[in-house]
Amino acid sequence: MYIMQKYIDLINKKIDEYMPINYPQKIFKAMKYTVTLPGKRLRPIMCLESCRMFGGNIEDAIPTACAIEMLHAQTLIHDDLPCMDNDNYRRGQLTNHMVFGEANAVLAGDALLTFAPQTILNNSKNLGSEKLIKIMKEYFHAAGAYGVIAGQVVDIESENFEITPEDEQLPEILDYIHTHKTADLFKLALRCGAIIADATEKQLEDITEFGQCMGVAFQIADDILDVTSTFEEMGKTLGKDKEENKLTYVNLYGLEKARKDLAKMIDKCFEILNKNNLKSEIFEQILNKIRNA
Ligand code: IPE
Ligand code: IPE
Ligand code: MG
Ligand code: MG
Ligand code: MG
Repeated sequence: MYIMQKYIDLINKKIDEYMPINYPQKIFKAMKYTVTLPGKRLRPIMCLESCRMFGGNIEDAIPTACAIEMLHAQTLIHDDLPCMDNDNYRRGQLTNHMVFGEANAVLAGDALLTFAPQTILNNSKNLGSEKLIKIMKEYFHAAGAYGVIAGQVVDIESENFEITPEDEQLPEILDYIHTHKTADLFKLALRCGAIIADATEKQLEDITEFGQCMGVAFQIADDILDVTSTFEEMGKTLGKDKEENKLTYVNLYGLEKARKDLAKMIDKCFEILNKNNLKSEIFEQILNKIRNA
């Protein structure tokens, strides 16, 4: 059984290999900076674990898992920009634009968005073209205007919203934001792992249902931690969601209900695993960690 730290070490080693510092060094350094800062590596772990769980060889999933971490880093770099959330700290260090300047941070994000699928294509020749096309479709869907970008657009639009609990549209908008800005990358990771392992259509549906539930739970936890945690714990700027009056789970429903609903969502994630006979200690560990936000 692979333990979490083994996955993390493997992911970090391969990311370092996949990202040599070429000319112009500035852009490669800016790209690598945020990717290699100590994030939790949840998405690549989930990609490898999904592959293992469905009987695949995790070696085959490593380039895709690392690429999804690069894509995630891209979303973080752009999310932190002055024109977006305007944050100065990420993963315990200064944000990309604070170190490399705004123009290079925009370019580093753009570059990662294309470098990630290139990493998959250049390092996964043993997957065969049919699987690679499937993975590319998944990547472009999740990374683009149907995926995380859709979520981020509606998230930014929701700043300074008039948040009244009576407004019947708000729960749906919030769910849309959480689904796309957060759950879409978890679904991407899980689905790619499953595709690499030759999972059946039914298994793909099951793991997608799990990723949706777990991704939304993860963002509810992030919204809670934004008001309850500390910089030392999270390594990023906190407290801005309230300041900016953002449409978050806590701002819409209050902290108490957010905590209750998070616990319910985590129970639902366990149910999805159990009813579909999906056995993974790693997923269980991750769910328990999210529950304790
Ligand atoms: C941060 O994701 C962005 C959100 C979706 C809340 P993580 O909390 O997984 O960030 P890292 O990768 O550990 O830095
Ligand atoms: C993150 O949402 C979503 C993406 C980065 C795509 P947040 O804006 O809440 O994430 P943090 O809190 O800055 O990590
Ligand atoms: Mg944001
Ligand atoms: Mg942010
Ligand atoms: Mg947040």
